Amino acid sequence: MIWIIGARGMLGTELSEILKSNSVPFIATDKEISITDYESLGQFVRDRSIKFIVNCAAYTAVDKAEDEVDLCTTINADGVENIAKVAKQIGATVIHISTDYVFSGESIIENGKPRPYLEDDPTSPTSIYGKSKLEGEKRLLSIVPESIIIRTSWLYGEHGNNFVYTMFRLMREKKEIAVVSDQYGSPTWTYDLARAILQMINLSKNKLSFGIYHYSNEGEISWYDFAVEIYRLGREYEILKEDCNIKPIKTEDYPTKAMRPKYSVLSKEKIKRLGVEVPFWKDSLRSFISGISHKYRG
Ligand SMILES: NC(=O)c1ccc[n+]([C@@H]2O[C@H](COP(=O)([O-])OP(=O)(O)OC[C@H]3O[C@@H](n4cnc5c(N)ncnc54)[C@H](OP(=O)(O)O)[C@@H]3O)[C@@H](O)[C@H]2O)c1
Repeated sequence: MIWIIGARGMLGTELSEILKSNSVPFIATDKEISITDYESLGQFVRDRSIKFIVNCAAYTAVDKAEDEVDLCTTINADGVENIAKVAKQIGATVIHISTDYVFSGESIIENGKPRPYLEDDPTSPTSIYGKSKLEGEKRLLSIVPESIIIRTSWLYGEHGNNFVYTMFRLMREKKEIAVVSDQYGSPTWTYDLARAILQMINLSKNKLSFGIYHYSNEGEISWYDFAVEIYRLGREYEILKEDCNIKPIKTEDYPTKAMRPKYSVLSKEKIKRLGVEVPFWKDSLRSFISGISHKYRG
C-alpha cells in the first residue's frame, strides 16, 4: 500500500489522481494527520500494510517563512524526521519531495556557461524555506538512507496556486505586467512529476534506486520567458482576450522577503538513466493549458 501525505496540496492531489487512474491502491492524508505529530503518524500506520510513503506535505510559503522560521522548520525538518522514524519502524520506503532552493543559485561555470546542478553538488540555501527543506533531506537520509528524495523546481498544475494561474489573473486584469528576467530555472508540471513518482515506486520494487534525484521539465528559462509562453498559449487557447505587454525586469526591481536562487536549473541525467521520462517544458505547458482552457471559456 502507498501512503500519500500532503494529499490535498498541488502535487499530492495530482499524484492521487494518477494513482487512481492507474488503479494503484493508496491511502491519502493531509493536515488531519499532521507530520509534526509523531504519535498520530505512528497510530496511523499501525495495522496498515504500508510499503511506500510519498511525502508531498510541506510548508511552502517561501516569503512568509522568513517570519515563521519555527513553523517552517517544524514542518519541513521535524515533520520529515517523524515520517522517517515511522517508516523505519514499519520498513516502508519514503519518497520525499524537495526543492531547487537547497542550492545558492551561484551557478557552476563549465565551458564558459552555467551548468545544471547535479545531485551531489554542494548545497547552500539562501532562504529559511530552502534551509528547512535541506534539513529535512538530511534528517531523512540519516534515519533511513534507503529513501528517495526528488528535488524539483517551479511547480505548476491544476490543483493549487501557482505561477501560471497568477499570470493568467494578472494578464486578464492589466495591460502591462513586469516579470523577472534574470532568474533562471525550469518549470515542472505536477502531472509529469506525479508520473515520475509512480515510475520511481515501480522501479524501487525491483532494483535499488535510493538516493537523491532531480526532476523538472527539460529546458532552461527565466520567469520572463515562462510568462511570455504562458501569454502566447493563453491567447491561442482563448483564455486571454485582451493584449497584455510583458516587461522584463531585474530581481532588484522586484524585491521579495526571501532571496531566490539566480540559477537553479537541475540536471535530470541521473533520473533519466533509470528510464524516467522528462518532457520539454513547452510541450508540458501546452498540454496543461489546453487541458484547463475550458474552465476560462465558460
Ligand atoms: N510549489 C513549488 O513551486 C515547489 C517547487 C519546488 C519544490 N516543491 C516541493 O514540492 C512539494 C509539493 O509542493 P506543493 O506545491 O504541492 O505544496 P502545497 O500545495 O503547499 O501542498 C502541501 C500540502 O501539505 C499540507 N500540509 C502542511 N502542513 C502539514 C502538516 N503538518 N501535516 C500534513 N500536511 C501538511 C498543506 O496543507 P495547507 O495548504 O493547509 O498548509 C498542503 O495540503 C513540497 O515538498 C514542496 O516543498 C514545491
